[in-house]
Order: sequence, then C-alpha cells, then structure tokens
Amino acid sequence: MRKSFICLLVCCLFFASCVKKEKTYHIGVSQCSGGIWRNKVNKEMLAAQHLYEWNVSVDIVEAGDNPERQVQQIDSLTHSDIDLLLVAPSDAKPLVPAIERAQKAGIPVICFDRKAATEHYTAFIGCDNVQAGRDVGNYVALKMKDEHHPIVLEVVGSMQTSPAQERHKGFSEVMKQHPELDYQWVEGAWAHDVITRVMKDFLKSSTPPDIIFCHNDGMAYDVSQILKEAKLEKSPLIIGFDGLPGKGEGMERVQKGLFAATYIYPTHGEKIVRLALDILTGKEYKRNNILTGTMVTPENVDMLLQSGNELMSQTENLVTINDKLEDSFSLLNTQRRALLISIIGLVVLFLSLALAWRAAREMRRANRKMQSLNEEQTLFYTNASHQLRTPLTLIAGPVKQLIDSHVLKDKQQELLEVVERNVTQLETVISSVLNFKKNMSGMTSDDNANANANASANADLLKESRVNLLKQDDMEELATLLVVDDNDDMRRYLHTLLADRFYVLEAPDGQSGLRLARESVPDIVVSDVMMPVMDGLQFCKHLKEDAITSHIPVILLTARSSESQQIEGFEHGADAYITKPFHADLLVARIYNLLNNRKKLSQLLGDKQKEEVQLNTQDRIFTDALKGAIRKKMANPSLKMDELGEELGYSRVQLYRKVKALTGLSPVELLRQMRLQQGYNLICTTNKTIAEVAFEVGFATPSYFSRCFKQQYGKYPMDLRENE
Ligand code: FRU
Repeated sequence: MRKSFICLLVCCLFFASCVKKEKTYHIGVSQCSGGIWRNKVNKEMLAAQHLYEWNVSVDIVEAGDNPERQVQQIDSLTHSDIDLLLVAPSDAKPLVPAIERAQKAGIPVICFDRKAATEHYTAFIGCDNVQAGRDVGNYVALKMKDEHHPIVLEVVGSMQTSPAQERHKGFSEVMKQHPELDYQWVEGAWAHDVITRVMKDFLKSSTPPDIIFCHNDGMAYDVSQILKEAKLEKSPLIIGFDGLPGKGEGMERVQKGLFAATYIYPTHGEKIVRLALDILTGKEYKRNNILTGTMVTPENVDMLLQSGNELMSQTENLVTINDKLEDSFSLLNTQRRALLISIIGLVVLFLSLALAWRAAREMRRANRKMQSLNEEQTLFYTNASHQLRTPLTLIAGPVKQLIDSHVLKDKQQELLEVVERNVTQLETVISSVLNFKKNMSGMTSDDNANANANASANADLLKESRVNLLKQDDMEELATLLVVDDNDDMRRYLHTLLADRFYVLEAPDGQSGLRLARESVPDIVVSDVMMPVMDGLQFCKHLKEDAITSHIPVILLTARSSESQQIEGFEHGADAYITKPFHADLLVARIYNLLNNRKKLSQLLGDKQKEEVQLNTQDRIFTDALKGAIRKKMANPSLKMDELGEELGYSRVQLYRKVKALTGLSPVELLRQMRLQQGYNLICTTNKTIAEVAFEVGFATPSYFSRCFKQQYGKYPMDLRENE
C-alpha cells in the first residue's frame, strides 16, 4: 500500500510537470539605451512573443548608454537561462569581450541596429547605415542644387557607434562627389548637451549652414531649438533621421515643415524575433539581414505617416492583446496549478483514508486475535482448574469428614489438620489464579458483587440446610438421588457423603445417567458437566425435555466457574450450579432446598389443585393429560393405575414417581382425591342422590364414599345437603 501511495504521488507530480509540454525559448535583449526609437522596437519584440508557433519569452534590459553597464548586463544574461542573446551595442569596441563570452558559452548572439567590432556573433539585422548616409547625401545635393555654394553641416552621432560611423561614411562619400557643396561635420554624440555646445560653437565661428543633416530626429530637434534662439536671417533646412510616426516625432515634423526631410530607420522588432527563432529552431538563416529604410520628404510624408501611425497603433493593440493574453495564461496556469494541487490533495487524502482504514482493520484483527488468544487461555485455565479442583474436593471432603468424626487419635488428628490447612491453602491459590485470569479477561466490579452475594447466599443456605436436615430426618421415605460423574472417586465420595440421607443411584456419563433417570425417575440429580459420551449440559437438556423426567431438579457440580459458563448451564435447564471445590454441607443444603421447593409445589398441586402453580411446559402437559384421563375414567370403580399409566405411556414406577414428585400423592391417592373432589362438586351443584354421586365418581359403595368423604372434608356428604 505504501509503495502504491508513493507511485501515485510520483505520477501526479509527473503529470504536473507535463502540464505544459512545449519548450519556451528564452530570448535575452540587451539594449544600449532607451528613447523613442528603442521603445518602438522593444514593443514590437514583445508583441512578437505570441506571433509565432513557439513559446517565446523576451526579456529586455537597458544600459542607459553606458558601455560598462551593458557589459555587466550581457554577462549576467549569459549566466541566466537564456537561449539566445540580442544585442544593440552602445559602443562598438567595449562590448566585444562580453559578446564573445556569450558566444563561447554556446549562446547564439544577434547584433541588431548597431554592430560590435568583432566577427564573433551569429547574425546581424538592421539597416544599411552607409546606404542610408548616401541616400540622405543625395537628397541634400538635390535640395541644394540651385543654391550657390551652399554650406552643408552634418551633425553625427557618437563616432564610437557603428551607425554614426557608417552614416557619416555614406554621407561624406556623396558630399565628396559634390565639390559645389561646402561640407562640414561636427560630432553631436547622440547627446543633448554635446549638440547644444557644438552647434553654438559652430554658429559662433562659421557662416550659418544652408542645410543641416542630423543623425537622428532628437538631435535635429535640439539643433532647430538652437537655430531658433540664434534668430538667423535665413533659417537653415534641417534633415533628421529615424523618421518615427507619432505625435511630435520626425515624420510629423516633416509634415509640418519643421524638418525638410527625415529617414525611416526601420525598427521591425518582429523580424528580429523571427530571425532569433530561425536560429533557435535550426532553420536556415542569413548572417547579414538588411532592413530597408526610406527617405521621408514633404512629397511622401502623408502616406508614410498614415501607414506608420496605423502600424504603430496595431503594434500597440497587439501589445495590449498580448498583455491580456498573458494575464489569462497566468490565470489559467494558476487555476491549473490549483486544480492539480486539489487533485494531489484529494489523492493524498484518499490514500491517507485508505491507510487509516487499513490500520484500523489490522488493529481490529489484532484485537480479535488477542481476544481469541485470551479465550483460549481462559479455557485452558478453566480446564486446568477442573483437573485440579476435582481431586482437591476429593481430598478436602474426606479429610474433613475424618476430622469431624473425632475417631482419630490426637496425633493423627493434628496431622490431618495440617493436611486440611494445606489443602485449603492450595484451594486459595487456585482460586487466586482463576480470579486473576478472570480479571485479566475483563471481570467487572459487578462480578465481584455477584461473587460476594453468592457467598452470603451460600452461608444462608447452610443455616437453612441444618433446619431442613432435621425436618428430613422425620421423613419416612428416603428421596432418590442420582449422581452422574465420570470420576469414580468423585462418585464414591458423593456416595459416602449422601448415602445416609438419600437413596443414591450412580451413572458414569450423561447417556447412562439419562437412561437411569428415565427408569427410576429420581427425586433429584447431581451431575458433573465435563464428561465423556454425553456431557452434563446435554444430559440436563434431554432430562428437561423428556416428559417423564422433566420435573426432576438438577444440580450441576463443576469446576466451570465463569459466569458465562453458569449462564450456559441454566440455559440448558439446570436448577442450581455448584462449583468445585465445594463444601459438602453446601451441596447437601442445596439438595434439600430444591427438594423442599418441589415438595411445596407438589402440595400446591395435590392438595389445592391450583392451576396457576408454576410448572415447566412438559410437567404442565403431563398433569393436564393425567387429570383429563382420570376425569374421563373415574366412574369405573375397578379403574387400575396401570391402565392410566399405559394410556399416558408411563411404566408403573415412572407414573408413581412422577405423580408423587409433582403432587406429593401416590397415583391411587390422587385418583381418590379427585373422585372425592368431583363428588363434592356434584353434591353442591346437582340434585343427584348421594348414592348416584358415589357411583358416578367411581366408588363401589355409597358407604365407602361417605367414609372417605368424611376423612377428606371432615363431614359426611349428607351434612352438606342438610346444610342447604
Ligand atoms: C537611438 C538611436 C537612434 C539612432 C540609433 C542608432 O538610441 O540613437 O536615434 O538611429 O540609435 O543606433
């Protein structure tokens, strides 16, 4: 179970890790600076994340025109988990080592917009700045063709950067082809303060130019502001570079006539990302990828601005959609994760419950095992005690009898008393062992209370037994007692103990006991429980089920002392339970007690004929059948009891003993008593003559009826009539 639990958990985790199977390409972008042109390219690259069929993540860092910072940023990107590096190097030279390190680390490097002074890069994508410089140069020449020896000023970007170098290269090339143009250049270094300074210096020392080409629209704006301040007679034409759409940007300035022209320096972030993916996915790609730029002049500005603006707003929209998409994805991922955690939680909960259930089941099993072990142990102790208690009874009983007989010499008496003391001690030890065992198997305080109650009941019984014994001495007839025990010594001992008081019959097991009981119908039975052939419980059950013997009281005499065992005995019909080792007087008292109860019952039945007297089912059936038969046949004066017995299926002895036991009368006496009773009823309730009544109830002569009647009721039948 534990193994499957771990397997399931591993599967869940595996499943969790497999939720998003496709690889994500991580592209790190190192931008040399910020600014509007770069913002545009950045937005286009971010929008392109979701443009292609792969999962792409673009992370952009910006160095603020600081080459050292950019080197650090590239190195840290190299050490992160990027799959490809995109670099727009600030200065061409200082960036070389960092780019080569990335390349060496196995990360493909694409330079975009600007170049680094190395050949160790994977690809380049950007505008051909030399050509761009030429294009602007040609436009300037065209614009100045009607002017007389016009002055052309080029404000270049930082000469440390490749675009400035290349644009200058292309522009100056064209200028050289036009000697009519007075061409001069200054370095503005892409920086506002530098431009301000160099322009002011230029205006101070030279004739104002006719046309100024600035390497970007930002520098062109700065120059226009300085010219404004200078309040020149003739304002020079200004040509910018970058040609961005949007409010206040280069194209709008051309449209408004603030700039004579500008040049669209293409951004195309989507093409940059596409090239990166081609490299990453092993597609064919070109090492040098040129993006086309265009001159923006008053002639084409409207059209270009419109499409540029549209493109820009589409990119903006794309970025917005992407942002929303990303939000949705992250929500979806969160939900997925939550779902997965819930599933794992449920699985863990289910498995924990299963484990708990299993543990509880095992615990229950262990408990059951323990219980059955306990029961076996108890049974063993009970059986062992049975083995010990019988011989102990057989030692203790005779020893006591001998001591009580006072026929021994002093010395012998003393020795026997030592034996008696030690036997008692042995009995105590056995009882302690049994009680301990009983406590171990959950004896309650009720058990103790019961035990105490039993002890005091036994003491009462002992007292009563003496009284009964005296009464019994007066009895003319000895009661018959059947002893059933497989132990010869025990039978012999019981015989010695009881033979003075009862007529004792013996049987070695339940089966022969049953036979003997049916034949002789004893007044009482004392039986062991554990016996071969038929045990005491079965014997007792059969005895109580048989109509002939059902009335006989049964005392179970056994070492089976537990409460449940006693209950079992009573359920089988036993009337009393005496545990070994037993006190002889207690047994005798119990016997008299039961006989007395039986006698009281029989008096009730015989004398008063009370129907409500408590009888067991078998005895009730028997008495009803007997009385019915007597009433039916009592008119026959020569009615024999044998005849009644035969009709009921009883032998003469059985009938005699059963009737005697139940009614205290012999069958003949019962017959006479019932005849007289019936006679009494007839005299009281009919007008029949005494003679008629006498014959009807089965008396041979009316005089004999009268005599018996007088004996029974203390008056003659005639007296009853006269009273009326
Ligand atoms: C922006 C910028 C642009 C210029 C480009 C050259 O940082 O100065 O204006 O065209 O860089 O790399």
